[in-house]
Amino acid sequence: MIESIYQLLAKIGYTHPLHPPATHLPAGLIIGGFLFALVAWIFNRKNVAQSARHCFILALIMAIPTVLLGLMDWQQRFGGAYLFEIKVKLVLAGVLLFLLLVAVVYSAFAGGFTKTVMTLYALCLLTVIGLGYFGGELVYGTREPAAEETKGLAATGEQLFKQNCSACHLTDSTATKVGPGLKGIFTQSKFPVSGRPVSDDNFRQILKTPVSKMPPFGHLSEEQVNALLNYLKTL
Ligand code: HEC
Repeated sequence: MIESIYQLLAKIGYTHPLHPPATHLPAGLIIGGFLFALVAWIFNRKNVAQSARHCFILALIMAIPTVLLGLMDWQQRFGGAYLFEIKVKLVLAGVLLFLLLVAVVYSAFAGGFTKTVMTLYALCLLTVIGLGYFGGELVYGTREPAAEETKGLAATGEQLFKQNCSACHLTDSTATKVGPGLKGIFTQSKFPVSGRPVSDDNFRQILKTPVSKMPPFGHLSEEQVNALLNYLKTL
């Protein structure tokens, strides 16, 4: 189901993850809301406090699809692997939804702008910063890809293989179905038909411009090809 959404998007040329662009909505609203709240607090302006509250209401609404898209990206990109950064983000996302809900409900009943409201807003802001930081670590961090992440990628690759390749290729032998069997393909020195040296780059090339009868797979995204590579290396 999830995979078909990404495939549909890939067809119209969108192959990036969905969560990072979506995060700007709740994150921006929380930062804006907090700045409004700060102004309201310092200059004692009730109407500005109201603007802050409206920002936080919108942030709560937008946080829900953003979290869902994050869960989807996690399945698609990381194969649902429980990486440290993912665990932290899952906890922080839960905390943020809870804090936003409490902030919105409490500020409605607090009757005016109180220290508690301000504290709740500040906590939301800190949580959002934490989420952004660990999101950045996940994508740009220097960590080695964890074994479980490679496994997650391989699992995504296996699914992709079933959908796109298994009609023509066996994975448990080197016998020909329509194309050559791919068992142990990455332990060989040469690809079986073209004789090109086995490497990630040559594999990418084969998908774009196969030897003759195999259909080209140039439409697969970089992430999808990566997942396929991870899977083929497990055969
Ligand atoms: C419609 C059948 C078909 C499908 C689908 C297909 N292949 Fe192939 N594949 C072939 C054939 C036939 C060959 C032999 C070379 C040729 O004719 O292009 C081949 C060759 C290969 C080779 C060896 C290429 C070489 O240079 O020796 C690899 C690796 C490969 N396929 C991987 C894949 C992957 C990965 C997928 C799925 C993304 C896939 N194939 C989908 C039919 C298919």
